[in-house]
Amino acid sequence: MKTEQKNQHDEDLSKGKGRRNFLSRSALLGLTGAGMSLGLAGCKDEVAAKPAAAAAAPALGHELAPGQLDDYYHFSSGGHSGEARILGIPSGRTLRRIPIFNIDPMVGWGITNESKAIMGTKADGSLKYTTGDTHHMHGSYKDGTYDGRWLFTNDKIHSRLARIRMDTMECDKITELPNVMGFHGIFTDKRDPVDQAINYTTRVFCGQEFHTPLPNDGRDLDDPSKWGCLFTCVDAATMEVRWQCRIDGNMELVASSYDGKLAASTNYNTENAPDLAGMMTAERDACTFFHIERIEKLVKEGKFTTIGNSKVPVVDGRKAANPDPKTAVTCYVPLGKNPHGVNASPDGKYFVTADKLSPTASVIELALVLKWFDGELKELREVVVAQPEIGLGPLHTAFDGKGNAYTSLFLDSQVVKWNVEQAIAQFKGDKTAKVVLDKIDVNFQPGHGYSSMGETKEADGKYFNSGNKFSKDRFLPVGPLHPETEQLINISGEKMVTLAEHTAYPEPHDGIIVRRDVVKTRQIYNMDDFPNAVKAENAGIERKGNKVHVRMMSQAPAFSMPVIKVKKGDEVTITLTNHDKVEDLTHGCAIPTYNICFIVNPQETKSVTFTADHEGAYWIYCTHFCHALHLEMRSRLLIEA
Ligand code: CUA
Ligand code: CA
Repeated sequence: MKTEQKNQHDEDLSKGKGRRNFLSRSALLGLTGAGMSLGLAGCKDEVAAKPAAAAAAPALGHELAPGQLDDYYHFSSGGHSGEARILGIPSGRTLRRIPIFNIDPMVGWGITNESKAIMGTKADGSLKYTTGDTHHMHGSYKDGTYDGRWLFTNDKIHSRLARIRMDTMECDKITELPNVMGFHGIFTDKRDPVDQAINYTTRVFCGQEFHTPLPNDGRDLDDPSKWGCLFTCVDAATMEVRWQCRIDGNMELVASSYDGKLAASTNYNTENAPDLAGMMTAERDACTFFHIERIEKLVKEGKFTTIGNSKVPVVDGRKAANPDPKTAVTCYVPLGKNPHGVNASPDGKYFVTADKLSPTASVIELALVLKWFDGELKELREVVVAQPEIGLGPLHTAFDGKGNAYTSLFLDSQVVKWNVEQAIAQFKGDKTAKVVLDKIDVNFQPGHGYSSMGETKEADGKYFNSGNKFSKDRFLPVGPLHPETEQLINISGEKMVTLAEHTAYPEPHDGIIVRRDVVKTRQIYNMDDFPNAVKAENAGIERKGNKVHVRMMSQAPAFSMPVIKVKKGDEVTITLTNHDKVEDLTHGCAIPTYNICFIVNPQETKSVTFTADHEGAYWIYCTHFCHALHLEMRSRLLIEA
C-alpha cells in the first residue's frame, strides 16, 4: 500500500497535477483541506475536524501538503534528554520540544529565575538537578477522555513528577516524591472513587521501581530485605503529595480504571531481590492493585506511618499486612515471570499486561478484582480471564476501541493485533476462537506502542505509533549514536499497514496521540498573568545597595533601554517583557560572558539574575529572529570597574 501510494503520488507529480490533485485526494482521505485554503493565518480559527468516519479510514495516509495541518498531536516523552516533545500525526513533523528537567538555552529553561523556581534550586540559587529521564506522558481526563488541560510526565532519575499546561505547552510545576527512587510508571486517575460526580482527573499515581532503605539515610545497607517501594498519589491540582502506599516488590508501569476505584502496577520483582538472579526466582510475579478508596480511608483515620523527614502519610500495602480481602488495600494478582506494561481497555472493563518473558499477555477483568476485594472470589487468580499466546517479548498494549488490542513484541520486532473477547473465549475453552488477527514487522525492537485516543473512551482505531528502540540501518549513518525509529501504522483496516517512519532523538519511551480539537492553545500570553511584567510606568533601572534591577521592554526591533550602566560586583536582575502583541513574534535576550540566553514570547515576562563580575562593554542582543532589523536589536551593558 505504501508503494502504491508513493507511485500514485509520483504519477500525479509527473502529470503536473501535483499539489492540487494531491490535496483533493487528501480531502477524500478524510483529511481536512481547510488549513490549506485559508493559509497559515487561518489555522487558529479553523474548527478542527474530527477525521472522517471508518468508511474512509482504510485509505488513511500520512503525507500532508505544505501548509496542511495534522489531525492529531503526538505528545512524547524524551527519555534521558529530560524533555518532552510534540509531533504531528500523521506527518511526524516535530512541532515543539518542551524542556522540563533539562536546561534549554533556546527558551531559557533552567536559566531564567521563573524556570529555576519551577525546577528547584539549592540555597545558593543554582539548580538542584540538571538531569532528568522522562518516560511516560499522560493527559488529564474528563468524562473518560482528555480535557486538554494538563500533561504529566515523570523523571526516573530524581523521582519527580512534572505537569505541563496544555494551553501554553510549558511545564508549570515539578514535585519531588519523598523516599522514592526510580519513579517509573505514572497514570492520571479518571474519576473519583467515592464521589462519582467528580468525573475528571484529581490524582496522579506514581510507581516506584527501585526499592531502597526507608528512609534512605545509611541504614540497612547490607540488608536489602528491609528495603521497600512506595506507590505515591499526587494531587493533580496542587501537585502536593497526598499519600503513599508501601508494597512488596518493584513497580513498573501504572494504569488507572475509568471508574476511579482501582489503580494497578506491574510488579516484576515480587521477590524484593537486590540482584538479577534473585529477581528471576519466583515462578510468578504480579500486577499489584490498589483499592484507592480504602487507602484514603486509612489516611483519614490516621492509620498510617511516616518515613524519615517526610510528613506524607504512608499506608501499609504489603502482603503480610493485608491478609483479608475485605479490608485489604492491595492485592497481588499472580502473573507470569517479570511482567511488563499494564494498559486499560477503552471499554473500561480490562487491564492488559504483557508477560515479557513468556509469549503471552494477561487480561484482568476489573469487575472481578472488585469482587475479590469484596471477598467474593476464592482465588485471586480468577481475575485473570485470558492469557493469549501472542508472540515473543510482549511489552505494551494499545487499543482501537473496536475490541482489538495491539501489543509490541520486542523480541519478534513485530506488533501483533489480537481480539480481547476472542482471547477470553479461548481461555474458557472455545477452540474455534480466532485470537491473533494480524502481525506486522517493525524496525526494530519496539518498546511502547500507542494508538490514536487509545487511552480514552474515544479510542478511534486510526493510527498506532510504534516506538522502536533500535534503528540500525534505517537512516543515514551519523556515527555510533543512532536515532530511534517511530513508525506510524494504519490500524483502521483488517490488516495493519505501515505508513511512514521518522527519527526520534533518544530516547522517547511512551506517548499519547490526541485528537487536535481537544487541544486549545493560546498563541499570545496575557501580560497581566505575570506579576513582574514591565510596563512603561515601571521600566528603567533601580538600585538598592549593590542590587540593581533593570526593567526592560522589548518591541521589534528595539529594547527599551539602549544602554544599561552598572558597577562591577553588582547583583543584576534583568526583567524583560515582550510588548509585541503579534502572533509568532518572539524576542530573545543573550548576554555574552554572562551565560544568559532566553526568549520572551508575545506579552510574556521573564527575568534573570547574575553578578556583574567582569568589567567592560557587553552587547545584549536579540537571539530570536523578529524583524528586518533583528540584528540591530541590541543594548549596551556597561560594567564599570
Ligand atoms: Cu527581537 Cu530579534
Ligand atoms: Ca521476578
